[in-house]
Amino acid sequence: MHVLVLGAAAGGGFPQWNCNCSLCHGLRTGSIAATSRTQSSIAISSDGERWLLCNASPDIRAQLAANAELHPRRIPRDSGISGVLLVDAQIDHATGLLSLREGCPFDVWCTPNVHQDLSSGFPLFTMLEHWGGLNWRPIAIDEAHHEAEFEVPACPGLTFTAVALTSNAPPYSPRRGAPTPGDNIGLLVEDRARGTRLFYAPGLGRLDDRVRGFLGRADCVLVDGTLWHDDELIRAGVGKATGTDMGHLALAGRGGLLEELGALPLATRRVLIHINNTNPILDDGSAERASLEEAGIEVAFDGMRLEI
Ligand code: MLT
Ligand code: MN
Ligand code: ZN
Repeated sequence: MHVLVLGAAAGGGFPQWNCNCSLCHGLRTGSIAATSRTQSSIAISSDGERWLLCNASPDIRAQLAANAELHPRRIPRDSGISGVLLVDAQIDHATGLLSLREGCPFDVWCTPNVHQDLSSGFPLFTMLEHWGGLNWRPIAIDEAHHEAEFEVPACPGLTFTAVALTSNAPPYSPRRGAPTPGDNIGLLVEDRARGTRLFYAPGLGRLDDRVRGFLGRADCVLVDGTLWHDDELIRAGVGKATGTDMGHLALAGRGGLLEELGALPLATRRVLIHINNTNPILDDGSAERASLEEAGIEVAFDGMRLEI
């Protein structure tokens, strides 16, 4: 399978328009070695022609312009995007649907929880009915295992397994602070011909043995690099929320994501995505970045291509 990283930053992007933290400031002034990143989105394809957009970021216009694979090619109105999948109903993952309105109807895969939030608190499904609508393709997380297996017609040869994750629901959700299975999913994507697997989870609040099992089965994990420290926004003086509040497990510290990634089989390719602008790994010269390199962990960037 082919994977395009369209945007590697968390909500707000890097730099964030109103953020004066040392990293956003450093990037603007050129006083640190760093590269700007747009908000969280990837695209997956089995044939290199038809792509499933996984999360539609507010930065989608620039992301589409920057990736020739997604440009119109065949008929007067066209796109390389053949469908959309949402892992949650957050602004940074769903707002781009508004910018895709000229291409409606689109098939949109998401869970009933996400569909509900995007039909009420943030009513994208309802609004876009005026442009031809979105065809909801429900991801039916089963009660017993909190998983759902499905296929996407535009990606022949790929099997998708959605895995309910513990993260948080968006502020406009009735389940904010008390998420239920389906507010946030990870995706195991298997290329049946190659026998390879990707595990994609930009929002990973907590790991248990079930989730560890999915990480352990993947050849490549593309996972939550939002924060280095749980209280990083508070330390930087830019916010009050911790990673725990937001549903993002921090990288550093005991029980942190780095420890979890260190326990994976040696051959697993490990890549961090959905990186918040306060995370020191965005500074190419930081000690934190050096420690990732030592551990064999990569930091995703806009335009990164993965062959899995
Ligand atoms: C998240 O990933 O927790 C949200 O996207 C945060 C946000 O609203 O920017
Ligand atoms: Mn986010
Ligand atoms: Zn910042």
